[in-house]
Amino acid sequence: MERLDLEIHKCALCYDAPCKKIYKNVDPERIIRALRFDNLKGAKLFINENYLVKNDNCGVKCPCKVDIDYILKNVAKSPYKKKKLDVDITTTFCGLKLINPFLLSSSVVGSTYDMCKRALEAGWAGVVYKTMCPFAIHEASPRFSTLKNWDNTFLGFKNIEQLSTHTLEEDCNSLKKLKEEFPDRIIIASIMGRNEQEWESIAKIVTESGCDAIELNFSCPNMELKKTGSDIGQDPSSVKRYTMAARKGTNLPLIAKMTPNITDIKIPARAAKEGGANGISAINTIKSISNINLDTLVPEPDVNGKTLVGGYSGRAVKPIALRFVTELANDSLLKNIDISGIGGIYTYKDAIEFLLLGATNVQLTTAIMEYGYRIIDDLILGLKIFMKENNFHKVSNFVGISKKCVVDSSKIERDTILLPKFNYDKCVGCGRCFISCEDGGHSAIKFEQETRKPHLDVTKCVGCHLCKQVCPNNAISIVEKRISKKTLE
Ligand SMILES: Cc1cc2nc3c(=O)[nH]c(=O)nc-3n(C[C@H](O)[C@H](O)[C@H](O)COP(=O)(O)O)c2cc1C
Repeated sequence: MERLDLEIHKCALCYDAPCKKIYKNVDPERIIRALRFDNLKGAKLFINENYLVKNDNCGVKCPCKVDIDYILKNVAKSPYKKKKLDVDITTTFCGLKLINPFLLSSSVVGSTYDMCKRALEAGWAGVVYKTMCPFAIHEASPRFSTLKNWDNTFLGFKNIEQLSTHTLEEDCNSLKKLKEEFPDRIIIASIMGRNEQEWESIAKIVTESGCDAIELNFSCPNMELKKTGSDIGQDPSSVKRYTMAARKGTNLPLIAKMTPNITDIKIPARAAKEGGANGISAINTIKSISNINLDTLVPEPDVNGKTLVGGYSGRAVKPIALRFVTELANDSLLKNIDISGIGGIYTYKDAIEFLLLGATNVQLTTAIMEYGYRIIDDLILGLKIFMKENNFHKVSNFVGISKKCVVDSSKIERDTILLPKFNYDKCVGCGRCFISCEDGGHSAIKFEQETRKPHLDVTKCVGCHLCKQVCPNNAISIVEKRISKKTLE
């Protein structure tokens, strides 16, 4: 890993970061935060003239001993030039105008008036409020477990939480106040019932609160009560019945939230459309057992010696969520149904991937749980820079343009081989490409003992690019030349 990355990842992203006081002309917290959210170009915008001028005797030291000067010098070197970011990041969802494509997804991050108010003040376009229901919710403690990356960030996040623990009246009051105070933002109520009467009556009750739309939670995998949550989402006839029931209670847009705990997500999504849904959000969390504590031998979270199969979210689930969104977006029977993409979004790049595959907006939870509402800064800035650089003036210019690239297995081109090329200036001679190719590839790399450099045997290489994936130094480029398999035969 490059020294710059190591320094960036040493940073704890402190609350009210003490390092803000170190320099006269620059805020290192904002710059490092942009870098941590993959936004190098955005970080460059915050470097001013004389950026290394320090405040005399400020007495502040970075608690994590990050070499901030080193980071700032590297950002200053970035060739990105400031441009006027005159792009339109508004989008629409089920006929509602969003000031940007970023919403809080229904969960603990949007579960009180105060929290949502802070999120909206920070710049989020709207909130899907924590799921409300007419029955009592009894939660366990602890209720989360995580798989971590080397730098202590979450790779994946498991929760066993259910729904809102407030009364419907309390939550409806919050929705009402939020809508009154933030008329330009989108307030979506998320609901769940046990039978048709309940779905209809809750839809009616939340509509009276003045919210803009209703999300139907057909997907919580942690419910204590059978035949609720993802039990509904796995049964297309219940999805249709309950969507129809909610439709009876409201004229607002209905968004059905899908479970990923199913083979073909299109089937319940079509059922929701038939029942009167205008939009689909995908995905809720994936049923999982995250890990076992090898000291206690109990899977986590350990609730008095027991756990349950709970919902997995965060970075690890993004590829699965992207797959489901693509399948929904490519389904001709779901035309005119707006999609809200959810699952593992942390950076503007993650969000853009969902938009490119056909979502018109995205929702986030785990990233906010890990870093707070402040991540909206780089979601918005990164999106604007991406749009400007790619000449997309409106979000709709690029929504869905990559979905056609995902094809059936029978339609992929299989006649050319892309050969890897070693960059010997960058290669440190570790031999990792050789080991992987020898034991996990096609034994097409020779490793010269004396020079410690890899060489390709083009007659054996199938162009799988495992070598490129394992190279720790980015010393293997995409392609040297294309050769046809047929030419070799
Ligand atoms: C702690 C927690 C609580 C959640 N509660 C709800 C909920 O009440 N209703 C709901 O529809 N989804 C709920 N979710 C699912 C999220 O809204 C979202 O679909 C999922 O976490 C995937 O997105 P993410 O990877 O950005 O977190 C919850 C997720 C977490 C982690």
